Amino acid sequence: MSEKVFIFDTTLRDGEQVPGCKLNTKEKLDLALQLEALGVDIIEAGFPISSPGDFESVTQISKAITNATVCGLSRAVQKDIEVAAQALKFAKRPRIHTGIGTSDFHIKSKFNSNREDILARAIQCVKWARNFTDDVEFYAEDAGRTDNDYLARVVEAVIKAGATVVNIPDTTGYCLPYQYGEKIAYLVNNVANIDKAIISCHCHNDLGLATANSIAGVISGARQIECTINGLGERAGNTSLEEVVMVIEQHKHLGFHTGINHKQLYPMSREVSEVMRMPVQPNKAIVGSNAFSHSSGIHQDGFLKDATTYEIINPEQVGAGLSKIVLTARSGRSALAHRLQKIGYQFNRNDIDFLYEKFLQVADKKKEVEEDDLHMLAKAYTPELATH
Ligand code: KIV
Ligand code: ZN
Repeated sequence: MSEKVFIFDTTLRDGEQVPGCKLNTKEKLDLALQLEALGVDIIEAGFPISSPGDFESVTQISKAITNATVCGLSRAVQKDIEVAAQALKFAKRPRIHTGIGTSDFHIKSKFNSNREDILARAIQCVKWARNFTDDVEFYAEDAGRTDNDYLARVVEAVIKAGATVVNIPDTTGYCLPYQYGEKIAYLVNNVANIDKAIISCHCHNDLGLATANSIAGVISGARQIECTINGLGERAGNTSLEEVVMVIEQHKHLGFHTGINHKQLYPMSREVSEVMRMPVQPNKAIVGSNAFSHSSGIHQDGFLKDATTYEIINPEQVGAGLSKIVLTARSGRSALAHRLQKIGYQFNRNDIDFLYEKFLQVADKKKEVEEDDLHMLAKAYTPELATH
């Protein structure tokens, strides 16, 4: 039996922290409704104490969302938690996400404190939050660089205080996948009450390892992934939702599933890109414009014989339309014949051999040979030319 991995979307909180990605309440509300339709389990709607605008957004999203859990972020500060609870008061399923830095970097440099004091503050913030809701998620900021022994003590104590989800963020994107996986396994094996909470992965992408780390975390026992559409987030971003969802889908042998409607992944990516004015890099996995494009002759020939030779995902599975055969100077004869046929020209092998030479002359001058160029080539051609 496959086990569910909960998808916690933080596009509207961690994603929105990206410079230039700030959204107004209407934009946030529209995206929240689309995230719910996509099938995310938890929507982190914002950080209510951070600004009146964010408070209003969390309030409106709480009113509008019917199925997903709506979550508000806070620091380990009583006022933050009270304000988060107020913004979430209309939510059908409210969650308060509270926590504190647990690495020595944070304890010493940020808080000028010590481990025992931070442990007490962690317990306290969970207790405050539990006064408002039964669904309290605790984050141990910079858990990626936190000593495992101390982290296990903190996690055990916050679960005892009432945390139902324990978030283990690799805030700086520092961990290697095996290290992050071992960290989660350490908690599974050394926290006596770990069965009373869900472990959550929140991995940043500073070394390009966020997706790999999140999957390593799930393999080791985590059952929630925090992620964003297009991997948006602080600095190099967060774990990309579409990537982790499709890793889980493509590797069913791992024994997991999510509730995400895969066909909405591509449209959702485009929507977020547009609203946040943040283009998607063309080679981005799953949702980049080149993710299902084939341009070299060897690949095109194989793909045209059988798509699975060069594609592990059918683009229609993620709502990305059809695969593309792009014509460049690296393309081959079969791709040229295929594209010509698609726009209505049927040529025999001899004709194609001749046309291919002409095609290369155009392709060497241009980055990509377009449909108009193909019409020009085809119309200028008569079979007699090929025999000369
Ligand atoms: O990266 C991080 O540690 C965070 C926490 C606030 C959850 O975003
Ligand atoms: Zn983060």
